[in-house]
Amino acid sequence: MSRQTHSFYNKFSVFYPLVDFFLRPQKTRLFDEVNQLPAGNLLDIGVGNGANLPLYKKHRVTGIDTSFEMLSIASKRYHKQVRLLLMNGEDLLFGDGQFDYVVLSHVIAVVDNPEQLVEEVFRVLKPNGRLFILNHFTPNNWLKQVDFAFRIFARMVHFKSVFYIHELTTIRRFKLLKEVRFGSASYFKLLIYQKP
Ligand SMILES: C[S@@+](CC[C@H](N)C(=O)[O-])C[C@H]1O[C@@H](n2cnc3c(N)ncnc32)[C@H](O)[C@@H]1O
Repeated sequence: MSRQTHSFYNKFSVFYPLVDFFLRPQKTRLFDEVNQLPAGNLLDIGVGNGANLPLYKKHRVTGIDTSFEMLSIASKRYHKQVRLLLMNGEDLLFGDGQFDYVVLSHVIAVVDNPEQLVEEVFRVLKPNGRLFILNHFTPNNWLKQVDFAFRIFARMVHFKSVFYIHELTTIRRFKLLKEVRFGSASYFKLLIYQKP
């Protein structure tokens, strides 16, 4: 993780609720899916300001983030039993096969090295464990041009506007169970994978 990403999210933490308001309908769908599954150990990487935490209904949740400010907001607003840790998703300090579920909600295109992140997720998931990825994915329609046009600006605000999941070799080690598309342009998607 670069120092710039870390410091950007420390400063951005105050404004993040505005972004979160816009993302809420997709998150509702994500948590409907997550909460249908049997109770288990769940890791939320890039947990941010903890806005998602009340949406978990039954799992034992560990939330990690590289931004101290984001985590400190999360810990003040949420008092239920959730473990919050300052940790880099690209270099997880957990042993192999510890989690039943991993959630990457609007984080895969933010980290410096998504390939390394997915490697780490594969390692810490149990066999048959599930990975939930909610994100924008560059579509094969007119929105592709918008992603390319915003490439440089996006880099300044620390995310990759052009993002293709199939370019990650590690994702091919997972089985894709479900793909939920949001809106007619399918710019945002929820992808649910299983580790074999
Ligand atoms: C766009 S926010 C998403 C927050 C939350 N998951 C959500 O859905 O609203 C991205 C978060 O990922 C965190 N982040 C960035 N790089 C990270 C990394 N390498 N490991 C863990 N968290 C990271 C940022 O600090 C920020 O809180």
